[in-house]
Amino acid sequence: MPLVNTKKMFEEAYEGGYAIGAFNVNNMEIIQGIVNAANKLRAPLILQVSAGARRYANQTYLLKLVEAAMIESGLPIALHLDHGDSFELCKDCIDGGFTSVMIDGSHLPFEENIELTRRVVDYAHSHDPMIVVEAELGRLEGIEDDVVVSAEDASYTDPDEVEEFVARTGCDSLAIAIGTSHGAYKFKPGQKPQLRFDILEEIERRLPGFPIVLHGASSVIPEYVDTINRYGGSMPDAIGIPEDMLRKAAGMAVCKINIDSDLRLAMTASVRKYLAENPADFDPRKYLGPARDAIEEIVAHKITNVLGCDGKA
Ligand code: G3H
Ligand code: 13P
Ligand code: ZN
Repeated sequence: MPLVNTKKMFEEAYEGGYAIGAFNVNNMEIIQGIVNAANKLRAPLILQVSAGARRYANQTYLLKLVEAAMIESGLPIALHLDHGDSFELCKDCIDGGFTSVMIDGSHLPFEENIELTRRVVDYAHSHDPMIVVEAELGRLEGIEDDVVVSAEDASYTDPDEVEEFVARTGCDSLAIAIGTSHGAYKFKPGQKPQLRFDILEEIERRLPGFPIVLHGASSVIPEYVDTINRYGGSMPDAIGIPEDMLRKAAGMAVCKINIDSDLRLAMTASVRKYLAENPADFDPRKYLGPARDAIEEIVAHKITNVLGCDGKA
C-alpha cells in the first residue's frame, strides 16, 4: 500500500469515536518503535516530521525510512509535515512525497492566517492524489523547536471564527487550542490539568463531521521522569494531559492527537537507565535497541488506552 492521506482515516475515526495517533519522528529507532506497535495492533498511523526533524535527519532519509515502514507493515500510513511555517516549506514537502502538511499560521492575524492557509490548500489540493492540509486557529503555550509561546501569548480558539476560517481556507482539518500545550511542562506544579471541553463541543456543533486536531497531547508519564532523574537527570516536576481527557476528546470531534514528548521521555529514560547499569558498553545498538522497545511500549499504550484506534487499519 502506498502512503495515504488522512481523508479516509479521519472519516472513519470521526464515525467510530476514536482518534489517529500522530507521532513525531527523527530517526530509524523512533520510526521502528512506533511502526512495530501500530503493526502489532493493526492501527492506522500518522508519522509526522517537524522542520527541526527535517533539518536534523534530512528529508530524503526520513522519507525512505517511512517508505520502508510502509513496505514492512502494510499499514495505512500518512506522512505529515508538523508545524509548517511557510508556503515554501509545505511545497517542498508536498513535492518530496508527503501526503499531508500542516500550515501553522496560528501566530498571524486572522486574515493573514486565512491567506497563507488558502495558498497552501490551493497547491496541496491540485495534486493527484490530493494532499491534505491541517491548519491552526488559536495558539498553544509551550516550546516547539526554537519557538517558545508564553502563557500570555497563548489563546484559546474562538468558536465564532471557525466556520468562516474553514469555509474560506478549504483546509481539511483544524488544530485548536483548548488547554493543551507543547513540551513536558504543561501545567504549573500544583495546578489541576483542565481542558476546555465546552470550546470543543461548540466547535463540533458549528463544524459537524469536520476533523479536529489536538497538539501538545503528551501525558508526561511520571514513571519516565522518575527514571530520568534516578539515573542522573534533573527534570523539574512535569505535568501533562490526563489520558482520560484525551480519550474523551477522541470520542468527540478530535480525529488526530499529536504526541511527541512522551516518546522523547520514554527513549531518554531507557538510554539513561541502560548506560547507568552498563557503564562499560559502547555499542549504540545496546542502548538504542531497548530505547526502540520503550517507544514501542508507549505507542502501544497510547493506541489502546488513549486513541482507541487498535484494529482499525
Ligand atoms: O510540536 C512540536 C513537536 O514536538 C516537534 O518538536 O520541533 O523540536 O522537532 P521539534
Ligand atoms: P507534545 O509536546 O505534548 O508531545 O506535543 C507534540 C505536538 O503537538 C507535535 O506537534
Ligand atoms: Zn504541535
